[in-house]
Amino acid sequence: MKVLLSVLCVLALGTAAQAENKMAAKPAAAPAAKAAAAAPAPTTKSLYERLGGAAAIKAVVHDFVGRAAGDAKVNFLRDGKFKNIDVTKLEGHLTQFIGMATGGPEKYDGRDMKTAHTGMKIKGAEFDALAADLSASLDKFKVPAQEKGELMAIAASTKPAIVEVK
Ligand code: HEM
Repeated sequence: MKVLLSVLCVLALGTAAQAENKMAAKPAAAPAAKAAAAAPAPTTKSLYERLGGAAAIKAVVHDFVGRAAGDAKVNFLRDGKFKNIDVTKLEGHLTQFIGMATGGPEKYDGRDMKTAHTGMKIKGAEFDALAADLSASLDKFKVPAQEKGELMAIAASTKPAIVEVK
């Protein structure tokens, strides 16, 4: 009987100790779990998704084209040489172009940037003025700095194909 009691005691103590160990382990693990929950989830979202998709891009493009068309520093109509621009088509192509370039499902079916702008004699300063208009439109729509920077970089990447006059 004594032996049985001792065995039971040892077993009971052992279980208690194990339970204590488990409890002791908890506080150490808890902060790590908390930190993991607080850390921002790694983003796998495309720029297209982060911008808000087609509707958001279309709205920015519309504002941007209106802004650029009225900007004397851009001279969008090239001293009146482009009189009958189909603005709806241009905005549609720009929306497609940006959609495709930012990882969206759009298929751009316009001309490549060099072909579309050949002969317009676009100057570097005119391109920069256009970029400033895009920046202003992105600010108007409160596009965050990260996404704005990525989109501005895409626009800047077209500069060598578009600018003919340094
Ligand atoms: C100062 C700079 C720029 C000027 C003056 C300019 C001017 C123009 C004009 C007048 C057109 C209409 C051509 C036509 O109807 O035949 C056009 C078309 C277009 N532009 Fe620009 N552009 C400039 C920069 C850019 C930039 C930076 C982008 C893209 C990021 C761009 C994208 C396009 C697209 C997608 C089209 C439509 C092409 C097509 O329909 O085949 N342009 N541009």
